[in-house]
Amino acid sequence: MIRAIVLAAGKGTRMKSSRTKVLHEVCGRPMLWYVLRTLRAAGVDEILVVANEELEAQIAHFGVGSVLQAQRLGTGHAVRVALERLEPRAEGRIVVASGDMPLVTEEIFRSAIAALDAEGDEGTVMALITARMPLPSNFGRIVRRGRCVERIVEVSDASADELEVEEMNAGIYVFDEGALREAVTHLRDQNAQSEYYLTDTVGYFVSAGKSVRPVPAPDYLHVLGINDRVELARAREEMNARLCAQHMRNGVTIIDPRTTYLEPELEIGPDTVIYPNTAIARLSRMGTSCVIGPNTRLSYARLGDRTAVRESVVTDSTAGSDVSIGPFAHLRDETRLGDGVHVGNFVEIKKSKLARRVKVSHLSYLGDATIGEDTNVGAGTITCNFDGVKKNETVIGRGVSIGSNTSLVAPVTIGDGALTGAGSVVTKDVLKGERVVGNPARPLTKK
Ligand code: UD1
Ligand code: CA
Repeated sequence: MIRAIVLAAGKGTRMKSSRTKVLHEVCGRPMLWYVLRTLRAAGVDEILVVANEELEAQIAHFGVGSVLQAQRLGTGHAVRVALERLEPRAEGRIVVASGDMPLVTEEIFRSAIAALDAEGDEGTVMALITARMPLPSNFGRIVRRGRCVERIVEVSDASADELEVEEMNAGIYVFDEGALREAVTHLRDQNAQSEYYLTDTVGYFVSAGKSVRPVPAPDYLHVLGINDRVELARAREEMNARLCAQHMRNGVTIIDPRTTYLEPELEIGPDTVIYPNTAIARLSRMGTSCVIGPNTRLSYARLGDRTAVRESVVTDSTAGSDVSIGPFAHLRDETRLGDGVHVGNFVEIKKSKLARRVKVSHLSYLGDATIGEDTNVGAGTITCNFDGVKKNETVIGRGVSIGSNTSLVAPVTIGDGALTGAGSVVTKDVLKGERVVGNPARPLTKK
């Protein structure tokens, strides 16, 4: 059984924020979310987060357990608090990581777990990830003896020679559970920071004749802890590049990944093309051969195949296949567009349903409206849905012609095949096939 302890009780003072550090977002998800997801992907069965009060209050969103570390007395103390909460398991494996490493990869955790159980390493009770990085660095230094680690020295306790060491402690460990439980009871806080260092377990194991296996990370970027907003921006850039690469490998063309802003858990069909300055957020999904952007924002947008959204904003809304939206349109609040709908320039649509092939090509506002198939909504049409107190509905049938600059004073119903003349102000229901004009709109009488 592999369990993980995620250290996240620190406030992250260098973020200069009222929000706890690991809740700051990278590509639309809290940093902690990535660490938890990656641990699960690497085969960890159960995760316990060591939290401060603010994080503890929000931990339910993450689907993991937490334990409050009321006083932050160091990483070794944090692990001890967590172990008191976890039921002891014989032959258990405990992964320890921190919640501020959103770029960590599944392979890093897997390689550390594998190193602990490698054949011929019976005396190994701990594996840890190391990384070569440019100096100066605030990371703890790895002091080696051959293939094994002898101890870890924190920067504040290091000698001048030790500070020259370029192999760093990434802060990712896998322990034999029994050995870890014993070692944490022996930690002392006699050091420059007066903290209980988890890293002192290394020296403890070595002096007890056990060995500690170093596992080099392929790239120090993957283990970068985020401490301030400059590093946060760097992490976002790297994560975004990974997300773009993943979709490009799945057949999506992204013209400029640097100005395409993605999040995890998006679905984008192959042969879709994404133009620059486009953000796609919150579980948006789309089919094949869509065209998105430039200068577009999608948030929880669900699109069919071959749909185009250009220079527009779509939030919490759905469009079918072969739909064309924009340039300069805004769809929001559970708007639903059927197949083949066309929404053109300067059109806002809120909480409305447009059936197949409806056209709203220019300068309109549709709110709380339901529109039947093949209806054409002329330029400048407005649903006057708000009477000063509440929102009212507009229902328009199939094959209707709404003339340019029509005002539809809701609640109002327009029957199938009806027509409104340009500039009509429709205050009463219009019957099926009826033609109305004027302000207030009246039926056209036959001559
Ligand atoms: C730690 C390591 C250092 C390593 C570095 C990698 C120790 C003593 N040092 O240093 O060797 O190079 O990580 O990033 O472990 N935390 C708690 N409770 C505490 C203290 C810390 O939950 O009482 C959490 C923090 O929120 C953070 C993590 O543990 O997520 C690491 O703590 P931090 O103080 O940042 O350790 P470093 O000084 O960076
Ligand atoms: Ca510290």
